[in-house]
Amino acid sequence: MLRFYTAGESHGQALLAFLSGLPAGLPIDVAAINHELHRRQLGYGRGGRQKIEKDSAEIFAGVRHGQTIGAPIALRIENRDWANWEKILPVEDTKSAETTSKKLVAPRPGHADLAGSQKFNFHDARYVLERASARETAARVAAGSFARQLLAQFGIEIASHTVQVGHVRLERAACWNEIKAICADLESPLRCVDAQAQEKMKAEVDAALKAGDTVGGVFEIVAHAVPVGLGSHAQWDEKLDGRLAQAVMSVQAVKAVEIGSGILAARSYGSEVQDEISYDKQARRFKRSSNRAGGLEGGITNGEDVVVRGFLKPISTLRKPLGTADLVTKEPVQAAYERSDWCVVPAGGVAGEAMVALVLADAFLQKFGGDSLAETRRNFESYGRQIDEF
Ligand SMILES: Cc1cc2nc3c(=O)[nH]c(=O)nc-3n(C[C@H](O)[C@H](O)[C@H](O)COP(=O)(O)O)c2cc1C
Repeated sequence: MLRFYTAGESHGQALLAFLSGLPAGLPIDVAAINHELHRRQLGYGRGGRQKIEKDSAEIFAGVRHGQTIGAPIALRIENRDWANWEKILPVEDTKSAETTSKKLVAPRPGHADLAGSQKFNFHDARYVLERASARETAARVAAGSFARQLLAQFGIEIASHTVQVGHVRLERAACWNEIKAICADLESPLRCVDAQAQEKMKAEVDAALKAGDTVGGVFEIVAHAVPVGLGSHAQWDEKLDGRLAQAVMSVQAVKAVEIGSGILAARSYGSEVQDEISYDKQARRFKRSSNRAGGLEGGITNGEDVVVRGFLKPISTLRKPLGTADLVTKEPVQAAYERSDWCVVPAGGVAGEAMVALVLADAFLQKFGGDSLAETRRNFESYGRQIDEF
């Protein structure tokens, strides 16, 4: 239902996003898109690039008079750094092009540098890393904001927080209100709900910087007030947990995804894992005693919060580089270093929120359809009555 693509390189003119399938008549708040873009740029442990960029989205198609018109949406986020790269990465092969000045022949282990160069047949990883870079997540976040704005029309909200940085973990559960509050707090360095744990996380980030190293961690995304019945058990590719896992795993540097307490569940007994069901006669709804399933059973949302965790490996670009082999001479050399982040857990969470929003909005439109928001709403409300009467 909802399709999206991105284009653009890290140091090219701009990042672009194309989004198709939203119903007409959805009010679009451009300031909300830019707010998400700003959130993506924050976080303790980011490199110098964020000081250069001030991301904002310019919409070129699909939105008129402040609302969607059922046409594909196209948007652009300018790369301010392009001014420094115009001569290095020109579109046309001009004589003034500084084609060799930023060549990257010492592939960084953990990046797409070597595999991408071999695959696309470059003896310079520059073109590969330009696209593999997580600068691309800015385009996803902008597209994701459209999905969030659709979901918000139906009371569905999405937020993320940091639950681990390096060896330091948030050792307690966080409730929705806390997560929502920390998500809105632009001053919070690592978006962790616990002040003490956050101080320890900051120390972990500082230690990595001091050692010329990098540090990974875990972000948790929570989607609140999701209706029961999104996704399906009927086919493997309709299972919403699988679709969410793929989407969050596609965020650069995410190496594992967990739904609910999935990892702990693997080493627990069934009686310790499943969420018992009861019926609240007053509220006229089924309830769970806990939400270890993370809001998904059989690939279908069950009405509880959808909880997805993304596990980020530490950034591959190291100030104290690892050994590698030169793409041209094949001699042993040290991996290339260029300006880089050293911890991106909060920013990864914002990118993860966007991916969760896009997948949920897609599943939502699959269930409720509608060419206009009014039609989607009618379908949604009619289904709500069915659930109430169930
Ligand atoms: C928000 C964010 C920012 C990132 N910043 C950097 C960075 O500055 N330097 C770097 O080497 N990798 C960075 N990464 C990770 C790389 O983009 C990623 O590891 C690389 O593209 C290889 O892809 P893979 O790890 O998904 O296999 C960042 C990832 C995210 C989510």
